[in-house]
Amino acid sequence: MTVRDRDPLTGHHTTGHEWNGITELNTRVPLAIWWFILVTHVYALIVWVLLPAWPGVTGYTKGILGIDQRSQVEERVAEMREARAPWRARMVALTVDQIRADPALSAIVAETGPALFGDNCAACHGARGQGGPGYPSLVDDAWLWGGDPETIQETLRVGINADHPDTRFAQMLAFDGVLSRDEIRTVANYVQSLSGMESDSDPDRLSEGRTLFEDNCTSCHGENATGSTDMGAPNLTDGFWIYGGDDKTLFATILHGRQGWMPAWEDRLDDADRKVLTVYLQDLKEEAR
Ligand code: HEC
Ligand code: HEC
Repeated sequence: MTVRDRDPLTGHHTTGHEWNGITELNTRVPLAIWWFILVTHVYALIVWVLLPAWPGVTGYTKGILGIDQRSQVEERVAEMREARAPWRARMVALTVDQIRADPALSAIVAETGPALFGDNCAACHGARGQGGPGYPSLVDDAWLWGGDPETIQETLRVGINADHPDTRFAQMLAFDGVLSRDEIRTVANYVQSLSGMESDSDPDRLSEGRTLFEDNCTSCHGENATGSTDMGAPNLTDGFWIYGGDDKTLFATILHGRQGWMPAWEDRLDDADRKVLTVYLQDLKEEAR
């Protein structure tokens, strides 16, 4: 049997193989498959020419259409910026009260505020701005630097003990070596009495604590221990604590000092975003009431 043999029934050539009288037809690849292969190859060739396709050593073939996803994303971001520009400009120009009185802007704050706060602030200040040990609450009435919108915006811009040239600077001194441990306990006891916490009410001990406080602490925390927003020194009479008012924490605060760190946001968030956050803080505060 030769390859050129034909099958009498179908008229096809056979492959020349035969198994016990059964021969294999040498049927042609269907035309549809040839077309399919042809079209896909032509398509691939066209695409190689038009679109970015082949990686090279230092780059890739860019395609004559110049399409590139990076520039598409950039375009879309630019479009979004443009769409947001009008409200962002108004956000920067208006005061916090004016923004809160404007339903459209308030809606934008309600929409963007939670994401901005969640992405940038919640890790330290808590999901609802409630704070935690070492991180002040932003929804109470106790402020290190002041809670009016202008002050908050400035705090956000420059940070606290941050790497910004205008940063706010605050430091609670370490009294290790300045006061004995007993004196530290005595002044801590006096500090507890200031906010009506349970403390040793022995009058001698309290008056000793008061003297220690007047000699060592009033320069920053003020004559009445109500703090100083010029120095970021907290009010010690209001019952709000950053670190804590219990014996152990107070002892550690006075012995070792404290220096909280809050990043500066000027380079990371623009004016409009910082304004949105300032307004959003007011909303959080109302919600916490
Ligand atoms: C890395 C942690 C951290 C992050 C993130 C952070 N903060 Fe702070 N923030 C602090 C600390 C700590 C203080 C208090 C500093 C101190 O004790 O002197 C503070 C203080 C503040 C104050 C001043 C409070 C006062 O009593 O005057 C405001 C306002 C504030 N943060 C808002 C924000 C906002 C809004 C964001 C998000 C854009 C943010 N913070 C992100 C740690 C952080
Ligand atoms: C140089 C200024 C300065 C002096 C002096 C100073 N403090 Fe402070 N104190 C601060 C500052 C600023 C903070 C806030 C630190 C921070 O959060 O970063 C602070 C924080 C504290 C806190 C923490 C309050 C809280 O909410 O947890 C206590 C308590 C305290 N001071 C007590 C004292 C006592 C008692 C003395 C005197 C023995 C004293 N301080 C002297 C500046 C000072």
